[in-house]
Amino acid sequence: MCGIIGIVGHTDVTERLVDGLKRLEYRGYDSSGVAVLDNGTLKRQRAEGKIKGLEAKLEKEHVDGQIGIAHTRWATHGVPNETNSHPHFSGRVGVVHNGIIENFLGIREELSHRTFETETDTEVAAHLVDEYLGQGDKPIDAFSKALKKLKGAYAFGLIIDGHTDQVFCARAGSPLALGVGDGEMYLGSDAMALTQLTSNLIYLEEGDWAVLTPTSYQIYDRDDNKVEREVTIIAGGPAMAEKGNYRHFMLKEMYEQPETIGRTLTNYIDEYRLASDMPAELDFSEIDRVIIIACGTACYAGMVAKYWFEQIAGVAVDVDIASEFRYRKPVLSPKSLFIAVSQSGETADTLAALRYCKEAGVKTAALVNVMTSTMAREADIALPINAGPEIGVASTKAFTSQLTALAALSLAAATSRGAVSEDEQHDLATALIKTPRLVKQALRLDDEIEAMAFEFSKSKSAFYLGRGSQVPIAFEGALKLKEISYIHAEGYAAGELKHGPIALIEDGTPVIVLAPYDELFEKTISNLQEVASRGAYIILVTDENGAKHTGDMADEIIVLPTAHDFVAPIISTIAVQLLAYHTAVHLGTDVDQPRNLAKSVTVE
Ligand code: F6R
Repeated sequence: MCGIIGIVGHTDVTERLVDGLKRLEYRGYDSSGVAVLDNGTLKRQRAEGKIKGLEAKLEKEHVDGQIGIAHTRWATHGVPNETNSHPHFSGRVGVVHNGIIENFLGIREELSHRTFETETDTEVAAHLVDEYLGQGDKPIDAFSKALKKLKGAYAFGLIIDGHTDQVFCARAGSPLALGVGDGEMYLGSDAMALTQLTSNLIYLEEGDWAVLTPTSYQIYDRDDNKVEREVTIIAGGPAMAEKGNYRHFMLKEMYEQPETIGRTLTNYIDEYRLASDMPAELDFSEIDRVIIIACGTACYAGMVAKYWFEQIAGVAVDVDIASEFRYRKPVLSPKSLFIAVSQSGETADTLAALRYCKEAGVKTAALVNVMTSTMAREADIALPINAGPEIGVASTKAFTSQLTALAALSLAAATSRGAVSEDEQHDLATALIKTPRLVKQALRLDDEIEAMAFEFSKSKSAFYLGRGSQVPIAFEGALKLKEISYIHAEGYAAGELKHGPIALIEDGTPVIVLAPYDELFEKTISNLQEVASRGAYIILVTDENGAKHTGDMADEIIVLPTAHDFVAPIISTIAVQLLAYHTAVHLGTDVDQPRNLAKSVTVE
């Protein structure tokens, strides 16, 4: 959520700052801006909307210097216009910020003798530092004093007029990394922004702040003690992910799934022994409960995992939305295992839940795609999904890899607790190994689903129904549709509809029914008939056996390859992803960067 980057060096920085912003655009794309010291004088350029708007402005009126900071914004306080775009200036100070300053109103009142130009929470930080400079403080003291006044979450980059060899930065609650170059230093919201500039990164810890010069960096902790932090070498800066011949990153990422699921499996399943293969420190034999915490799509992966862990391993599972978890003061036992599920590994609420459990003495694991993320670094056990960079804001390949890893974890739990026989273990492992091939087959339905999406895209609202482990896939299907096509959609447990929402069904209301031919098939089909008889337009997602038993009950039918019940939710996911994608394309929305969203949600 908001991306920041800074460079202090010996050659012009603007082009590299803008290049870094492009790598960070997934964090927000409401507006962007860059500020430099041009011969010691603060100059900036800012633009509403995506980074190409900033590039166009820079082309007309270039600003440059050998020190600079830049920002891509996901708006929290203040509408996403140019005035509210970062960098914000106050007197001699320019600042970029990721996070939320919670006490900004109080500080604004204290500084009421100053003129505020924006509606943002961030502007107070620039004013505070400038105020202290005006009172005679040295830049380093002014910055450190300002930090002590600010409450909330922040990652800052700050430059000061006339101080051409110093960038100030700080982190509390929002991630920030430093990059060590050759005669240059960098700061960035994440490794993604910096790997093109250097492979030597330092991850600041909570409360750390730092002063960077072209040839040095000094880090301080929250009590202003000088501290050393480890330099991590990031192997080979990844090239910016390319769309290749695909129209959108989302489409490319959906098509990568046979390969990405395969990569996830190599980490967790031993194909020769047909058994799970887990890190030694992950011991399920003694735990009394698994607590899975996540947000959005990642949380739906956790909900599917609840079915797996409980049915296969006999372990109780609590799944909760991260933003609710710690505030309901959950009862925790030291024998529980906490699993944070997060593509980015930076989601503020999920990270807070992880810290909450760690503090309570619960063993923590983080199932993440980004292994350099804060969650991966802070959890007791970091579990990679290896899906590769996911650029489309709507999560696709990360979701199916999360599911795959969680399925393998549930198998590991079942094995270590003696809940499955050797044959059952081999059967489940084999089902997982076959998944990439089935996903590939499911992707062949692309054209068929595209054709269905044409009618579907005219809908104002839709329902997704399922039973058992298909319920979270119904939620995920509805979420995918909402976020990229802007059509209202809800997912429901099929048996729950008649307890209220069925009142919304009228002639032509689209209902997507997820019903693989499993033990709940007949019950789901009864629910299908309840809505069909009230005029719903049914799109049935089933498998070859299911299709044989449903005749012409549905208006449209998507026939997925037959899969083991264990992995069926992974296969159904492909259908709902393709349906949402093609609907959005028909409607002409910005599929990869839908309105109001950001890929990495680092504020509460
Ligand atoms: C939806 C989507 C989001 C994320 C959620 C959690 O397509 O991508 O709902 O799943 O914001 O993000 P991570 O997994 O990075 O914690």
